[in-house]
Amino acid sequence: MRIDVLTLFPALIDAFAETSIVGRACAADLVSIVPTDIRDFTYDNHRSVDDKPFGGGPGMVMSCGPVFEAFEHVVGWNPSDSAGDAGECKLDAGSELIMLTPQGETFDQSLAKELAQRQRLILLCGHYEGFDERIRDGLSPREISIGDYVLTGGELAAMVLMDAVIRMLPGVLGNEMSADDESFSSGLLEYPQYTRPREFRGHSVPEVLLSGDHAKILEWRRAKSLERTKKRRPDLLKD
Ligand code: ADE
Repeated sequence: MRIDVLTLFPALIDAFAETSIVGRACAADLVSIVPTDIRDFTYDNHRSVDDKPFGGGPGMVMSCGPVFEAFEHVVGWNPSDSAGDAGECKLDAGSELIMLTPQGETFDQSLAKELAQRQRLILLCGHYEGFDERIRDGLSPREISIGDYVLTGGELAAMVLMDAVIRMLPGVLGNEMSADDESFSSGLLEYPQYTRPREFRGHSVPEVLLSGDHAKILEWRRAKSLERTKKRRPDLLKD
């Protein structure tokens, strides 16, 4: 998979792409993360990427020009080749342009699973009060939010999305099973886990886990998953 990130802070994305499990996945060529600095597509001395909103109001708005040009650059599309704008630049079936914004559909595990099937993702990170609406009109991105709160920019949201997607790619997690066995994949929260020592400050590991009886362990884990989900996230049990 290739992930392009259109951003004002490419150093954040570089650090993410070099670290931990994602870093190993990049080093093993299971994924390639390519940040593109939107500021490289500006032509004034201040390298401005934003401007005051027409009609007044607080804050600044991300301008069309640098965002369109950064997008056209990463997809290798030349607007002068066609009478239309970049909206007519159709991405191939395996690619998707995603705008990170609090106004988007809410990201969850099933969306991560869906995006993990793509060959290429192009993530557009905004800053300031938002995007000029013509960016939405012209590029028709899929809009995704990571939750009902407002961040100072889309980069953290892009990293959350990338992390959840990349760990699902074949070969990224050591044990192929472990991405399937955890919270949300089954529609339930994960059961409690224990490791050595068997006894810690008077608290011991549940006997069943030491029994070697795999059917019993499975049954216990399923019951604990259900119990925990019922208590903490009853909304997950509705379906
Ligand atoms: N940009 C700012 N806040 C965001 C959020 N909650 N999700 C995605 N992108 C964002």
